Amino acid sequence: MDPALSVRPFRASDAAPLTDLLHAAYAELGAMGLNYTAVDQDVETTRARALGGQCWVIERAGQIVASLTMSLPPSDGLRELTAEARVGDRAWLNQVAVSPALRGRGLAADLWHRGRRWAAARQATSIGVDTAIPAVHLVRLYESWGFETVDTIHWPGKTYDSVVMARPLGPSDA
Ligand SMILES: CC(C)(COP(=O)(O)OP(=O)(O)OC[C@H]1O[C@@H](n2cnc3c(N)ncnc32)[C@H](O)[C@@H]1OP(=O)(O)O)[C@@H](O)C(=O)NCCC(=O)NCCS
Repeated sequence: MDPALSVRPFRASDAAPLTDLLHAAYAELGAMGLNYTAVDQDVETTRARALGGQCWVIERAGQIVASLTMSLPPSDGLRELTAEARVGDRAWLNQVAVSPALRGRGLAADLWHRGRRWAAARQATSIGVDTAIPAVHLVRLYESWGFETVDTIHWPGKTYDSVVMARPLGPSDA
C-alpha cells in the first residue's frame, strides 16, 4: 500500500470523521435512489455499527479515507431477516467505504484481505454480505471476491430489495 496511507483499528473518537467519509462514499448510491443507511446515518449509528464488529480505518495525512467492518456474529437485525445470517461461524461484511478521490487503488481490497484474516483467525468458516439488488456493480464486485447469491431480503424502510451473498473461508484466507 502507498506509504502515505496507514491502517489501524477504529477508535470511538473516529465516529464523526468516519460518518463524513461514509456520507461522501455512499452519496453515489443515494443518487441512484438507494437509501443505504450509510448515505445519511448519524454519528451514533456509525459508532454502534463500527463497535458491532471489528472496524478498520485507513488514514492519509490524519484523514480517514477508507473503512470496513467485519461482524462476528452478524447483527441481530440481520439474523432476524435471513437464516443465512444465523449460519454458525459466519462473519458479515459491513460499511465498506473508500473516499471517491482514492478509488481503484486497492484500498478496499486491502481491507477485505485484513477482514478475511481476522475472521479466519476467529474460527469463522464463511463470510456473508448483503447489498441492494439494483447496485449491480457491487454484486459483480462481491462475485469477483468469491461471493455467491444465497437469499433475497428487504430491510425495513429501504427503497430496494437486497441480495444476500456468502463465501467460504479457506486456508488461503488465513
Ligand atoms: C466499492 C468500493 C468500496 C471499492 O473501493 P476501491 O478501493 O475503489 O476498490 P479496490 O481498488 O480495492 O478494488 C477492488 C476490486 O474491486 C474492483 N472494483 C472496484 N470498484 C468496482 C466497481 N465499482 N465495480 C466493479 N468492480 C469494482 C476492482 O477492479 C478490484 O478488482 P481486482 O481486485 O480484481 O483488481 C468503493 O467504490 C466505494 O466506497 N463505493 C461506495 C460505497 C459502497 O458501494 N460500499 C459498498 C456497499 S455494499
